[in-house]
Amino acid sequence: MAVNDLSFPLLPPPPALGAPLPGAERHPDFLRLLAERRSTPALTLRAPGPDAQTLSAILRIAARVPDHGKLSPWRFVAMGPVAKARIAGQLGPFCADCGLEPAKAEAALAKFQVPPCSVAVVFRPVIPHKIPVWEQELSTGAVCFNMLLAAYACGFGGNWLTEWFSYDARARAAFGLTDHERLAGVIHLGTVSDRPPERERPNLDDLVTILD
Ligand SMILES: Cc1cc2nc3c(=O)[nH]c(=O)nc-3n(C[C@H](O)[C@H](O)[C@H](O)COP(=O)(O)O)c2cc1C
Repeated sequence: MAVNDLSFPLLPPPPALGAPLPGAERHPDFLRLLAERRSTPALTLRAPGPDAQTLSAILRIAARVPDHGKLSPWRFVAMGPVAKARIAGQLGPFCADCGLEPAKAEAALAKFQVPPCSVAVVFRPVIPHKIPVWEQELSTGAVCFNMLLAAYACGFGGNWLTEWFSYDARARAAFGLTDHERLAGVIHLGTVSDRPPERERPNLDDLVTILD
């Protein structure tokens, strides 16, 4: 993978089990990140991507999510350009009958190869288990979004895409998935080349109920 700014500070070591953590503190920089973050279209993500050290920090943060039952119902497949070209080559023959116009399916594979680094988030539900699969899915979604946040805080753009191959059972093998695993999506990472414009956001007046 491409080498990025090696001056990027290391994360502090993971807190020891049971170590007291900060309760709640004001983090104005973090609030601003949350208020202004947005996805960067995969087609505009350029090299360099995160280097190995930064990627490992991003993955460590991504995995630090609420997870009912501590099941870790997810895992990661981090892909650089060589792996992505190979996977796209394996998926190519499925474009003809994947349910999309072949040209659109091929365009999705071309887009998949543009960002310098991509992480497949693999959903691996624990079944049967008393924790409902729905909750395991929610935790996996949190992993994906936490990865976007971590990447952004490291200075990289990100784009969470599923595309047709996340729903094509034949595509699983190309990503190394087993039959009971699914792709929660591919998180594309790279350097932001064009600042993305703000998009329309939901009107919270329509969505929020406040009860005394
Ligand atoms: C689970 C999931 C799957 C997505 N898959 C696609 C996709 O396949 N193609 C696409 O164009 N956008 C897809 N998107 C939307 C992009 O991530 C989109 O750029 C993003 O929602 C923009 O929001 P933001 O700017 O607030 O980050 C998906 C979003 C989610 C949450």
